[in-house]
Amino acid sequence: MQLFEKYRPKDLDDVVGQDKAVATIRRVIGRKGWDRDAFWIEGDTGTGKTTIAQCIARELGCPPESLGYQEIDGEKCTVDEVRRLADHAIRCRLFEDLWKVVIVNEAHAMTAKAVQAWLTFLEKLPGRWIVVFTTTQESSTLFGDFNQPFMGRVKCIRLTKVGLKEAFAEHLQRIAKAEELDGKPLSLYQRLVHINRGDMRSCFQAIEMGEMKAVRKTTVQKRAEAGLQRANRKRSRQAKKHNK
Ligand SMILES: Nc1ncnc2c1ncn2[C@@H]1O[C@H](COP(=O)(O)OP(=O)(O)O)[C@@H](O)[C@H]1O
Ligand SMILES: [Mg+2]
Repeated sequence: MQLFEKYRPKDLDDVVGQDKAVATIRRVIGRKGWDRDAFWIEGDTGTGKTTIAQCIARELGCPPESLGYQEIDGEKCTVDEVRRLADHAIRCRLFEDLWKVVIVNEAHAMTAKAVQAWLTFLEKLPGRWIVVFTTTQESSTLFGDFNQPFMGRVKCIRLTKVGLKEAFAEHLQRIAKAEELDGKPLSLYQRLVHINRGDMRSCFQAIEMGEMKAVRKTTVQKRAEAGLQRANRKRSRQAKKHNK
């Protein structure tokens, strides 16, 4: 398994650097009587959007491996697909105790027509239906005339970039250590996050390729070893002098 998948947080509490977004989501889903909703999660690539969406699904007992869970790409989320979901919702009314979580990734790729189809569906979401749209783009002007009505039907969660470099660097170093792929100081992990524009997935790729391993460590080790040898030599010289 690739590292980014192995270490994908399973619980909202394990999501790194997005405390405010997580707290907001917890407030929403923890509200008494809450049983249906639509979220719009905005953030840069590899900062945790799909991860958070999957954590929400898990909280509801509807993990990615379960029947009620579905992930679609925005591009494939056409008018027909939205209508199919709406039909499905009507047919599934009989099984209302099961949660249905639909995640639409790269939601900015949806056409205006698809967004229009969502308007009706989101307006009267059936019980236990959750839709999570994720996107790397700002919502403000994406869907023209439909923008306002669409955004009024979803809860917008903006992931932050503030403090991510430090939080991600520490997280990555911890994992690299556990995987025996570490060797560089924390500052270089911060640099890794910076170079990859905060994209944790790309950082994992670099770590898997051994980029955070060795080199510096051997120099550091060599220096430490040389220091130790010098100290040992000094000690034995002193011991000899003392014994004379
Ligand atoms: N905030 C985060 N906390 C912990 N891991 C994260 C976070 N963001 C990204 N990751 C790691 O990067 C991988 C990709 O994250 P993902 O949520 O799919 O990104 P995207 O925002 O592009 O949807 C995850 O599998 C996880 O290992
Ligand atoms: Mg994603």
